[in-house]
Amino acid sequence: MNKISPSILAGDFARLGEAAQLCERSGADWLHIDVMDGHFVPNITIGAPVVKCLRRTTGLFFDVHLMISEPDRYIPDFAAAGADLINVHAESEGDTEKTVDLIRSLGKKAAVALKPATPAETVFPYLDKLDMVLVMTVEPGFGGQSFMADQLPKIAAIRAECERRGLATDIQVDGGITDATAPLVTRAGANVLVAGSYLFKAADMPSAIQTLKNL
Ligand code: DX5
Ligand code: ZN
Repeated sequence: MNKISPSILAGDFARLGEAAQLCERSGADWLHIDVMDGHFVPNITIGAPVVKCLRRTTGLFFDVHLMISEPDRYIPDFAAAGADLINVHAESEGDTEKTVDLIRSLGKKAAVALKPATPAETVFPYLDKLDMVLVMTVEPGFGGQSFMADQLPKIAAIRAECERRGLATDIQVDGGITDATAPLVTRAGANVLVAGSYLFKAADMPSAIQTLKNL
């Protein structure tokens, strides 16, 4: 069964706690929190103080996606704010493997995210240290974009490498996930699905989550 991580970016930012609780009540496994700095991506969203406040509203596992230039500078803050997993981009500044070590040293799960133009092999040198790899299926920065089917071979390549090494690493996808695109990514090997617009616009979030889970 897939794990479903609704992206709170598609929620009402004046009522983030209620949005998180709606996801929890609807059967979400995780909550995906998109952090953007206006530099790594052309948009600004949520910082650690907001994560800290959200932490008081829900017991959901916090999957924090850092789309920021200097992750090392802010990771301790997000860890203290209540992140359960911290997802950093391979394209951010610094040595990604050292950043992964920093996340783990704080007792958090670690994931590395890849922009569409970044090849699968980028994560292979430190794949054994990762709890998850995130394959972006849109250019990071905004919700509501169209799914990029050209990312499917990358998902398959990472799944094949995990299997070759006997690793049960999670593979997450993020961007344009709907009931139409989710079967494609799960067939390619993804098992953690982020969905923003699709879930928040659904008339019935619980059944939309079940649909994605049971693919
Ligand atoms: C985009 C974010 C996504 C976004 C996905 O940069 O990383 O998590 O919220 O939104 P949808 O599901 O609407 O494409
Ligand atoms: Zn995201």
